[in-house]
Amino acid sequence: MKAIVATRFGEPAEVLELKTLPDMQPPGPGEVVVRVTKRQLHLGNLAMIRGRFNIPLPAGGLVPGGDGVGVVEAVGAGVDPAQGVKPGARVIFNPSSGAWAERLKTRAELVTPIPDDLLDSIAAQLLPNTVIALLLLRAAQRAVPDAGHEIPMLLTAAGSAVARIAMLAAHRRGLKIMGAVRSAEGAKALSVRFPNMSVVSTADSDWVGEVRRAAGERPLQVIMDPVGGAMVGRLIGLLGGDGALLFYGGLAPEPITFPSIGLAHHEIMFKGVSSSRWMQNTSAEQRREDVAEAIEIGRAAPEQFDVEADYDLARFADAIAHIERTGRNGAVLISSNS
Ligand SMILES: NC(=O)c1ccc[n+]([C@@H]2O[C@H](COP(=O)([O-])OP(=O)(O)OC[C@H]3O[C@@H](n4cnc5c(N)ncnc54)[C@H](OP(=O)(O)O)[C@@H]3O)[C@@H](O)[C@H]2O)c1
Repeated sequence: MKAIVATRFGEPAEVLELKTLPDMQPPGPGEVVVRVTKRQLHLGNLAMIRGRFNIPLPAGGLVPGGDGVGVVEAVGAGVDPAQGVKPGARVIFNPSSGAWAERLKTRAELVTPIPDDLLDSIAAQLLPNTVIALLLLRAAQRAVPDAGHEIPMLLTAAGSAVARIAMLAAHRRGLKIMGAVRSAEGAKALSVRFPNMSVVSTADSDWVGEVRRAAGERPLQVIMDPVGGAMVGRLIGLLGGDGALLFYGGLAPEPITFPSIGLAHHEIMFKGVSSSRWMQNTSAEQRREDVAEAIEIGRAAPEQFDVEADYDLARFADAIAHIERTGRNGAVLISSNS
């Protein structure tokens, strides 16, 4: 079978190769073999390939891709057919790696059947983006229990796929949320998608004032930020006492720098949130609810899951070049059909 493999960490263009690997062996007890049809390319995949996650390279190399959609080909002993994971079932899955191959072997508990009316192109975008969005909302409520009830929570890089799902999930819970993006065009596009939500552009010299006005001149309680870098000092200035800054990415190339006195004075909390710790830190029942909500969101709001490009597995290098462009307007998918 064909697979994209990194035999060392480094720049994706230099370290990734399309390889022919031996055919997948039958699944062991509790395992499933899935023929993968589509996967979404994430900026986080590139961070992993670059070695930024500080995890060891697997023996034989890394096959990236922690999520996607496909069809079950075989199930191992002990996999309960009552859960719907049986040969022929369309499923989404979220192992930690291995999805950039024509076939994936993973634990059955990481595989969830999907309804027939959910397109592959939407299903491929549900995990882990919904998981991190739901984890962010739970972390926000734990940090500040009434966050989003009166004062909107702020999402930065708010045009991203994760942020848009967080907005949908916040609206389902009746929570107030607002967004900041880095360009006027991005703000306009997001306002079209979410006409009732306040959106500011950080390219505007008075964006901090705009956020304050949208929050009714009250300090913010929670900010969810995947950017980091130089903007963090401005974000801290928007938070009130006991406010929380939830980090879930590192899009800015520069490190975070800010005067720490503001943090101490307002007793502000910094917290990292990661979908890769969801398996360890979230009960099986909650995880099932999270995946069920992902599927509901995909069915209820298909217009939020645009696809900008869909590349064949062999054209992975073009897909990677595409994902790093600014001002994208939809997901970049990688498909295979054998
Ligand atoms: N912690 C976790 O478990 C987890 C899981 C999934 C994703 N993530 C993180 O979530 C973030 C969003 O991922 P995604 O897949 O949703 O992204 P996406 O759909 O690819 O969109 C990326 C967005 O980030 C914006 N952006 C990029 N660099 C920026 C910068 N330096 N300053 C401000 N905005 C910037 C882009 O703005 P333009 O439109 O202006 O280009 C774009 O709107 C990433 O950092 C990703 O690593 C974390």
